[in-house]
Amino acid sequence: MTRPSETQIHIAPSLLSADFMHLEDDVKRCVAAESTVLHCDVMDGHFVPNLTFGPPVISQLRRITKLELDVHLMIETPERSIDQYASAGADAITVHAEVSPHLHRTLARIKELGCKAGVALNPSTPIASIEHVLSLCDIVLIMSVNPGFGGQKFIPIALEKLASLRVLQQSGRGDFMLSVDGGVDVTTAPLVVEAGAERLVAGSALFGSDFAGNMQRLRQAAGC
Ligand code: DX5
Ligand code: ZN
Repeated sequence: MTRPSETQIHIAPSLLSADFMHLEDDVKRCVAAESTVLHCDVMDGHFVPNLTFGPPVISQLRRITKLELDVHLMIETPERSIDQYASAGADAITVHAEVSPHLHRTLARIKELGCKAGVALNPSTPIASIEHVLSLCDIVLIMSVNPGFGGQKFIPIALEKLASLRVLQQSGRGDFMLSVDGGVDVTTAPLVVEAGAERLVAGSALFGSDFAGNMQRLRQAAGC
């Protein structure tokens, strides 16, 4: 598969692996490493077996940074709270196809609110489930782990899905950015880039000790 030379690959740090007691320090680390986006994982303890944060934390992040806030909603009935996330300052809101029976309406509402609209697919969810709404998507997020936790092992089925979406992208079926989330590290980064990913979400491979060095190594592996 050929990649157009203008395609930009970038790494999106996932705050799930940040130090929640010192979140601002970790945001500063992202800024110092010239990140352009912060991936914010919202979990409800229902759609996924874990709980994180909601709109109040997004508005606090909005107060301290101009970086793109890429909000990944791992919650049931996301349509009930997208207005709140937009008001809190999200730049992009991604909902899961598995919990969005009225995906067309939900994506249209996200765009109406002035945010980029994203749709995420679990490893077991086929691409066919979003084929008819691709024209409304600014972001398609392919999960390469079952969502809910950081530090899980990469599931290779994501590569096939990225490659198929790349074909749809190139055949003009939508103007979306291809994003991948879960188990992205120096070993898997070259694989997802080769398959067509443009935004690589990474948590455990970046945070902890030596954020700057980890970012440098991951960028090198991804060729960006
Ligand atoms: C998982 C989240 C991810 C998570 C990725 O459900 O959506 O964004 O932070 O973590 P790593 O990069 O550690 O797999
Ligand atoms: Zn995520």
